[in-house]
Amino acid sequence: MRRNIVHPGASELTYEIREIVAVGERLKTLGVPVYWENIGDPIAKGRQMPQWIKDIVADLVANDDSSWGYSPTKGILATRQFIANERNAEGGVQITPDDILFFNGLGDAIQTTFMYLHSSARVLGPSPAYPAHSSAEGAHAKSEHLTYDLLPENGWLPDLEDLRNKVKYNPNIAGILIINPDNPTGTVYPEETLRGMIDIAREFDLFVISDEIYSRITYGETKMVPLSAVLGDVPGMAMKGLSKEIPWPGSRCGWVEFYNKNVDSNFAKFAKSLVDAKQLEVCSTTLPQKALPRIFAHSNYQAHLAGVADEYAGKADFLADAFADIDGLTLVKPQGAFYASPTFDAGKLRNDQTLPIADEAVRAYIEEIVTNVPNDKRFVYYLLGATGICVVPLSGMNSRLEGFRMTLLEPDEEVFADIVERLATAIKEYLES
Ligand SMILES: Cc1ncc(COP(=O)(O)O)c(C=O)c1O
Repeated sequence: MRRNIVHPGASELTYEIREIVAVGERLKTLGVPVYWENIGDPIAKGRQMPQWIKDIVADLVANDDSSWGYSPTKGILATRQFIANERNAEGGVQITPDDILFFNGLGDAIQTTFMYLHSSARVLGPSPAYPAHSSAEGAHAKSEHLTYDLLPENGWLPDLEDLRNKVKYNPNIAGILIINPDNPTGTVYPEETLRGMIDIAREFDLFVISDEIYSRITYGETKMVPLSAVLGDVPGMAMKGLSKEIPWPGSRCGWVEFYNKNVDSNFAKFAKSLVDAKQLEVCSTTLPQKALPRIFAHSNYQAHLAGVADEYAGKADFLADAFADIDGLTLVKPQGAFYASPTFDAGKLRNDQTLPIADEAVRAYIEEIVTNVPNDKRFVYYLLGATGICVVPLSGMNSRLEGFRMTLLEPDEEVFADIVERLATAIKEYLES
């Protein structure tokens, strides 16, 4: 090239959740049946959509030609009004349709948010991290993503004193990111912790981003508290979407709710810049915005959500029981979303542990790819080669902890139980090797 055309932040763009797929696909060609426990797509895992949801979408496609057209840049007014009414009825920060901006999925919202953030303004996010946030934030700053630690010994909640110090000693930090319920840990933040984080934001004049895409998938003791309920007068934005709760990831439909835009003119300008950016793109997907109020207001919707939450609660219990007696592994039982992230206790993983792999070609391939990889990735590769179970190493999710993320998505209970039991056996065997 005549000159370097690579963005200086390009090396921050990693997405381990999908990168592991290449290894799984290669193993498939070698005859290994692969169980995809890495990707958070309930549809890909075989969830059947209820007929009443299909009927709403089919009716729109057949009878409402406007569902085929562009929509206003911010999103369809009636849908934004519906969301604003829902939010305002919950109490807390009040919003109008003008405070809502639709995106082509939260992936788009995340990219756009960090792309248009001043390049020296940093957002401190959780570790382990969901890679879309950490990569986008790192790429925008052309540097590694800045994180606060979620601690398994603390139920995957952060140490607020440590978080406060990170903010205090880095004047570039302009915002705090919370993922609630969290991906990859499945933790749901108690109100007290959220208030503590918001107090830090208030003290240092920061804004708060709360990714609440899993807000209606909770099944533990901790009640889900949305950002809007506890934010008070601090500027903030909540990210919500249809991908997980309906679930309709293929709709590419998510939205941002801006809170307290008008208490800070700089935050208001930032919010406007995101609308202006979306305007250049024209608008976001129309059909799911049309369907949203009809699905959310449908008499079956609450029962639909409750049924799904019950299912994940049962799986979380089963997993916790199956892993309870594994010496060297810690599992915090998830309370929301559909992931669990077991961690290996310090010093339990080494770079010479293995699992037996009978097939010579498979073993040779795994031995080839485990050189110079983090210890938890080595475990993940051996697990994949030996059992076909595909999970994501936590080292690929901006974490200093060794562990892996798996999902609770497998809809067939017997298959789920079999995967968990084979996983537990493999972990024990690996740790003893
Ligand atoms: C925490 C979190 N935020 C955002 C997204 C992206 O969702 P979308 O399908 O709306 O792009 C995901 C997807 O897994 C997620 O886990």
